[in-house]
Amino acid sequence: MSLWKDLVFGREDGMRAPLRKAITGLLGRSEAAPSAPRPPDAPLQAAEKALNLGIEAPKDVTPPDGYEVVLHKDALEPGVPIEIIVAGKAIALCKVGNEWFATSNTCPHAEGPLGEGTLDGHILTCPYHGWMFDIRDGSCLTSPSDKVHTFSVKVVGDAVCVEV
Ligand code: FES
Repeated sequence: MSLWKDLVFGREDGMRAPLRKAITGLLGRSEAAPSAPRPPDAPLQAAEKALNLGIEAPKDVTPPDGYEVVLHKDALEPGVPIEIIVAGKAIALCKVGNEWFATSNTCPHAEGPLGEGTLDGHILTCPYHGWMFDIRDGSCLTSPSDKVHTFSVKVVGDAVCVEV
């Protein structure tokens, strides 16, 4: 349950915290629930729009050794990164067409949350200072001596599985 909360609302101290506080303040509640109605003009983060919470991760799939099921393959729109926590690791998960990629969520420049960045093709841009990474191999286009760790992703049936 915490995974879904992190996916939708971000970490408690993440970049979406001010947005969450603004929304919950408008609703007069201390915390928004995933099924709670939103004010019609509330700003939505791209990742929230892209993630279809109505499609749950398959429960009948056995992931390959060393992998964990994280999402249903249709739960995320292509072109929008999201932040997930798998086995205690913060990971930026991206879908480009029907291909999936995963990198560390932590930018090597100053620990920006890459899963809250923007994705243009295979290039993921950090939301803090704009460093750009190729999600296929983790290479950094902005600072070639830096790199972000990548994780293998496999789709088994309808399940997206990330190696942890
Ligand atoms: S923290 Fe990512 S570019 Fe600065």
